[in-house]
Amino acid sequence: MSFAFEVLHRDAGSAARLGRMTIRGIEVPTPAFMPVGTRGVVKTLSSQEIKDFGYKIILSNAYHLYLRPGHKLVEQLGGLHRFMNWDGLILTDSGGFQVFSLARLRKLTDEGVLFQSHIDGSSHLFTPELCIEVQEALGSDIIMCLDDVRGYPATREEALEALLRTTRWAALCLGAKKRVDPALFGIVQGAMYPDLRRLSAESLADLNLDGYAVGGLSVGEPRELMVEMFEVTLPLIFEAVPRYVMGVGKPQDIIDGVLRGADLFDCVLPTRNARNGTLYTSHGSVNIRNSRYRDDPRPIDPQCQCLLCSSYSRAYLRHLFQEREIFGLRLATLHNLSFYYHMMENIRIAITQNRLHSLARDFSVQMEETDD
Ligand code: GUN
Ligand code: ZN
Repeated sequence: MSFAFEVLHRDAGSAARLGRMTIRGIEVPTPAFMPVGTRGVVKTLSSQEIKDFGYKIILSNAYHLYLRPGHKLVEQLGGLHRFMNWDGLILTDSGGFQVFSLARLRKLTDEGVLFQSHIDGSSHLFTPELCIEVQEALGSDIIMCLDDVRGYPATREEALEALLRTTRWAALCLGAKKRVDPALFGIVQGAMYPDLRRLSAESLADLNLDGYAVGGLSVGEPRELMVEMFEVTLPLIFEAVPRYVMGVGKPQDIIDGVLRGADLFDCVLPTRNARNGTLYTSHGSVNIRNSRYRDDPRPIDPQCQCLLCSSYSRAYLRHLFQEREIFGLRLATLHNLSFYYHMMENIRIAITQNRLHSLARDFSVQMEETDD
């Protein structure tokens, strides 16, 4: 297996690390953000456009591709990389979170999770074995263990049951893995209970997986609690493997994760918000539908080099949103993914220079200048 992770530098003032994850000869500088391509496309963009920013890895979802068009079909057509014409790396999420957030009538047993498709109501049993089969058929580079995800708030009993099941399933996922190539990551659960987070991390550690994620966050808890869980959980994961915070987050959340030792992130926010007209800039977020931009000749962010900022005014983008012209969605998505890419680059540079805390401070001041 060609998976490697190296820590190259530690920030002098925090737990942040600069690293390099290498898979199939492709190097991912970390901390890294993975754009979300749930259904084998980062909505509105081509794989070439994602590559042109510099992104080396994207996230896709086993749950969606299993339901439609079916993992076997994707496999027949040469795998997900070929299907979507993406030669970078793909991490697939296992479906544990999607059956929790999207499916109907979720029923958890030790065997797996029985659910009804959010698309047509059909019943499916997702087991650890099937979850690995699906992700291997897709040809993912990093596959995630099936996990039991609970909402917020969860009782201690629920949280304990979920984390113990997550650990049992992780062992089954490891046993079900047939291919040597993909890396397998475990997911730490434990809701908002520090001692349960510890129990989860320690029991998963025995499996010696290639990387570990912190799951069960951004499920409706207050932000301070999420940051406390970063603080509690990230140091429990081996130093020598990538630490991935799933489904996070806003720019400030990502910096807070990096400060506490996280290496990988994914989130729908930059792409989803783009489609609602919310654009991230170095001076806070802008909602382009606001009437104040009606005749604004300025670019969204003069510091940004993207197609939108180098060629079009705020007034033009607002016009496209007003008219529901689909080019507006593309321009906004390009911009937000450009913003996230450069934010991660700035984070990596700041770690090298041992000044991540000062970047975080400047950033929180700048990002507060929101227009709405
Ligand atoms: N995405 C965001 N949070 C989670 C989680 O807890 N588990 C999984 N599998 N995916 C997630
Ligand atoms: Zn831009």
